[in-house]
Amino acid sequence: MAVESRSVNAKSSSLTPVAIGSLLITLALLILPFVCRLNGKPHADWQQFLGRFHPTIVHLPIGLILLVPLLEIAGRLRPSLREAAGFVLALSVFACLGAVALGYLLAYGSGESGSLVVLHMWGGIALTIGVLCCVGVRPQWASGRVQGFARRLYPGLLLCVVLVLAWTAHEGGSLTHGANYLTEYLPSTLKRWPFADSTQANASTTPGSFYARHIHPILDANCVACHGEGKAKGGLRVDTYAQLMKGGQDGAVIIAGQPDKSILLQRITLPADHKNFMPAEGKPPLKPSQIAWIRAWIQQGASPTVASLAGIVLPEDAKETPLPQVEDYSSKMAEIAQAASAEGITMTPVSSNLKDGLILNTVNVASKFDDASLARLDKFAPYIVEAELGRTAVTDASFETLAKFHHLRALHLEGTATTGNGLAKLRGLTELTYINLSGTRVTSAAVPALGEIKSLKHVYLYNTPAQPIANQPEAQAAAPKAP
Ligand code: HEC
Repeated sequence: MAVESRSVNAKSSSLTPVAIGSLLITLALLILPFVCRLNGKPHADWQQFLGRFHPTIVHLPIGLILLVPLLEIAGRLRPSLREAAGFVLALSVFACLGAVALGYLLAYGSGESGSLVVLHMWGGIALTIGVLCCVGVRPQWASGRVQGFARRLYPGLLLCVVLVLAWTAHEGGSLTHGANYLTEYLPSTLKRWPFADSTQANASTTPGSFYARHIHPILDANCVACHGEGKAKGGLRVDTYAQLMKGGQDGAVIIAGQPDKSILLQRITLPADHKNFMPAEGKPPLKPSQIAWIRAWIQQGASPTVASLAGIVLPEDAKETPLPQVEDYSSKMAEIAQAASAEGITMTPVSSNLKDGLILNTVNVASKFDDASLARLDKFAPYIVEAELGRTAVTDASFETLAKFHHLRALHLEGTATTGNGLAKLRGLTELTYINLSGTRVTSAAVPALGEIKSLKHVYLYNTPAQPIANQPEAQAAAPKAP
């Protein structure tokens, strides 16, 4: 703003009405967030009603602002277009103000808070001020009377405005569609790039606990869209244990040991058409079993570490079948870590309880991992419950080694060169429930062998020459008709 008033001053000794107006608007925009704080409390309905036009209206300033640099460039050839640029720039000020006002009504009215909303808000304010500055310095630039730095000021400001615009629009998009909207369908190879990795932030702190296995996933799937890092409606975030226990605008939402006094449980057990019912806005209610889990968890102290809940009857569909345990391998930790780094793979514990076993992951070395590499790991075979060997160089020869993985529950062989010859050797893996053979050369000849692994529940044969057979319902369901 200082820049603008100075340049206006340079021309005429007193401030022009435009400059005074711009200054006042800038001041108002900067003060607004401190006067009407976004504290997560919803306000009047009319504010929300108007505010909901923000996502539509917001395209107007975007279009107008982007037009300005285009017109300025085209104006080098056709001076009349340059005149239009000034007009479009002035229009964008009004469009920006409209969008900011409606956006603010939306956030304030519906009780938004959270870092994403706040960043988006400041983006909108910065953008509007930037456009005002452009309006201020443009006349001198267009007159061609200034030289040097002053000559480059306007194009530089315009560039900043466009960058701020892109960033603010992206933040706004993340608000409406979720932070991973753009990267969700990014090819998986690109997803490994650090910049695309925005979905891992919610990892819960105590793996293996009842909270981590049951409570966090429920809240994550049903509530975090409105009560997460980006948006914290009602001032409440439920994306981490600490935030959940901190509560919302009305204080704690969970009172350990007292489910009926816990606002969170009250909200999810109201009649679905009650205005305080959660999840809000007609989102599907939680399942009775999920509510039972939450109630039991609160009843038993709402702990982030307790692994299972005792003495409480959960409804049939909420009961957990305990997973088979592997032998204690704590004395072998160093050896495991050494072998893993030698092969460039990872062997990570499923949970803080070592007896839950290890997950073997080869994704970092996929094409270099072969039958011999797997054979070298066979001393750890009894501790591995999941083997991710997808797209590695292992072949049918590895079934011999895999037969020693007695506690294996899930086996990924998708995209490998296996033909399924030797699958029968896995007959002894009584805990194996999942096998993925998609994209391999497994033929129908191998399917009877799959039938012999009685524990299997999920068999994937997508994109293989294997024909589904009638008495293998799972395999049939999972495998599309071969061409
Ligand atoms: C579509 C958005 C949305 C979803 C999804 C949603 N909520 Fe809310 N929630 C809100 C809004 C808006 C408020 C603030 C207005 C109010 O108190 O009703 C709120 C408030 C709350 C409050 C009161 C906080 C306080 O301190 O007053 C609790 C508790 C709550 N939600 C729990 C949940 C739970 C649990 C879920 C998931 C099962 C959930 N919400 C899903 C929008 C949502």
